Amino acid sequence: MTTRTRILTGITTTGTPHLGNYAGAIRPAILASQDANADSFYFLADYHALIKCDDPQRIQRSRMEIAATWLAGGLDVNRVTFYRQSDIPEIPELTWLLTCVAAKGLLNRAHAYKASVDKNLENGEDPDAGISMGLYSYPVLMAADILMFNAHKVPVGRDQIQHVEMARDIGQRFNHLFGKGKEFFTMPEALIEESVATLPGLDGRKMSKSYDNTIPLFTSAKDMKDAISRIVTDSRAPGEAKDPDNSHLFTLYQAFATPEQEQQLRSELLDGLGWGEAKNRLFQLLDGQLGEARERYHQLMARPSDMEDLLLVGAKKARAVAGPFLQELREAVGLRSFVNQASEAASTKKKAVKAARFVSFREDDGSFRFRLLAADGEQLLLSRNFADGKAAGAVTKQLQSGQALDVRSEALGFTVWLDGACIADSPAFADSAARDAAIEAVRIALTPIED
Ligand code: TRP
Repeated sequence: MTTRTRILTGITTTGTPHLGNYAGAIRPAILASQDANADSFYFLADYHALIKCDDPQRIQRSRMEIAATWLAGGLDVNRVTFYRQSDIPEIPELTWLLTCVAAKGLLNRAHAYKASVDKNLENGEDPDAGISMGLYSYPVLMAADILMFNAHKVPVGRDQIQHVEMARDIGQRFNHLFGKGKEFFTMPEALIEESVATLPGLDGRKMSKSYDNTIPLFTSAKDMKDAISRIVTDSRAPGEAKDPDNSHLFTLYQAFATPEQEQQLRSELLDGLGWGEAKNRLFQLLDGQLGEARERYHQLMARPSDMEDLLLVGAKKARAVAGPFLQELREAVGLRSFVNQASEAASTKKKAVKAARFVSFREDDGSFRFRLLAADGEQLLLSRNFADGKAAGAVTKQLQSGQALDVRSEALGFTVWLDGACIADSPAFADSAARDAAIEAVRIALTPIED
């Protein structure tokens, strides 16, 4: 079986996607999802949106706009799992399990929280003024998003790297506390696409809603045209040579043009093409590439129930993964049914019996010894030396016969005795609890299976 790379990312639903979001995140994610080796999980992070926004209309509108943008942009819902975070009740449930192992000190160090505290201190306010538990716990919810689906790669902006690291940290802690050698959670890695464009906005700074310098993506051709007309350029007149490499208009053009188109505009600018005409070229280019998707966007927005259906199918797919996994995690922390306890203990025992094994070997001096190995390969016992293989075999047989086992603990180890002779020794353990656990493992391993 080949395991495909699981790629997962969330989009906080507080705004309307603009051209910068499209080039920087949406377009690359849609392309990545077309790779046959990728198993992509993309979702609307609407629980995260509630942390930043208490305007229900805006939350609802943004969820629809973002869903429509991704779908219109060509996301194939048959290939990827596309869902709303808030349709997956397993996520808040996992959030709580993780909250109980996440160190508070870790969350104290989150950049977003610290920035809010610093701002309060600057203004002479209480350090936690206006800070909700949602903001404080933001990284735990995000860890649940990621760990729930055992994502390998998490494409995010630089500002989110710390959150992915925290997800690793919290997941590791859970594995350590409850995994008993089993890794429940895969360690995710942030994926920062170096080649992906951070588009400049109208004023040349990074395109961002907070700078109010964005170019709208799908609202209308007119909106896009109006924004493009406001791109700041230098004051060179038509006929004067322009420097393409110092023009963010040209940078925007580059992000969408073929190498030939780029070369063409470059030489025309050097030859004195007017800025007005250059803006026109940019509009034509964008409109040509995005016009059809814009149509699809408006169709989708006009029929929200179609989107609802698609997202519910996505939620079903996601929950088919999340549900059974969460069940395992609940069991691991001790949230188990009262009913099946006895039979469960018996089946664990049987598995241990089946899994533990004797391995015998010959020493250089010709004598024979054996080891008893636990299911995970850990050595439970090493025998003393026997004259031949037959004698060693007889002992392993007798050990498994069901007769009461003579185990004698010593400081940090134990010995096993048969007919008044010590026949095997344990390794040294870190403490007496580990020693007692190993004795228990030996007893279980040597108990015959009764069906
Ligand atoms: N916090 C992310 C952002 O603001 C959005 C997000 C929520 C996310 N959950 C996630 C991203 C899980 C990646 C994986 O950009």
